[in-house]
Amino acid sequence: MIRFKSKIKVAIDSPAAAGAGTQAKLISKHYNLFYLDTGKIYRLIAILKINYPKKFNYKYIKKKMKTLKVTSLNNKKLLSNEVSTLASIISKDKKIRKLVHNFQIRHAYKPPKKYNGSCLDGRDITYKIIPNADFKFFITANIKVRAKRRFQELKRLNKKMSFKEVLKSVKKRDKSDYNRKISPLKKTKDSILINTTNLTKRSCFLKIKRIMDKKLKLDGNI
Ligand code: C5P
Repeated sequence: MIRFKSKIKVAIDSPAAAGAGTQAKLISKHYNLFYLDTGKIYRLIAILKINYPKKFNYKYIKKKMKTLKVTSLNNKKLLSNEVSTLASIISKDKKIRKLVHNFQIRHAYKPPKKYNGSCLDGRDITYKIIPNADFKFFITANIKVRAKRRFQELKRLNKKMSFKEVLKSVKKRDKSDYNRKISPLKKTKDSILINTTNLTKRSCFLKIKRIMDKKLKLDGNI
């Protein structure tokens, strides 16, 4: 297993279904980094709102964040379209974002000891959560390709939605994520753009790996 001389932090931002999660997982596995899919936290809060509408308030979310285990974020229920849409609405709330930020920062800066560092993906990771990340990537792809990937993911989960509906939903989420006032999705100047439209998962991973290996060697970390 690769061992680094000093711990690193990788920050990834991306619009919905661009393949960022897949790449973040591959990078994390390869370099032995602690991986956190931050969108899943907003999704979990969306589920709390659906399941417990009466209890749902800031205090309740705060309490849930304190006891939240990363393993609870693996639940397949978090992937439905209803949850995606609601997560995108919820994530516009400044107070909710603040409650979620602490959890993310804690994991980004203090991952469990066995890891070489951390890798987080989301919408505001490169400039809000880990502004001093060692590596920053903005992963994107053409809207139709992203909708197709999302459509296939939902199909695998046995969710019945037409391609047209999925495309509409991804477009709506893009509009909201890019244009909201608080923590909008954007590519920062210091982020490396990775367009996955015409890349396979493997070739995309190799592209990122080449970039990372070069800097890790230059820094004398490997
Ligand atoms: O990445 P994912 O599609 O799971 O994220 C669901 C929603 O959560 C996004 O559409 C976005 O509105 C919100 N989100 C966010 N900030 C993050 C991660 C996700 O606002 N860091």
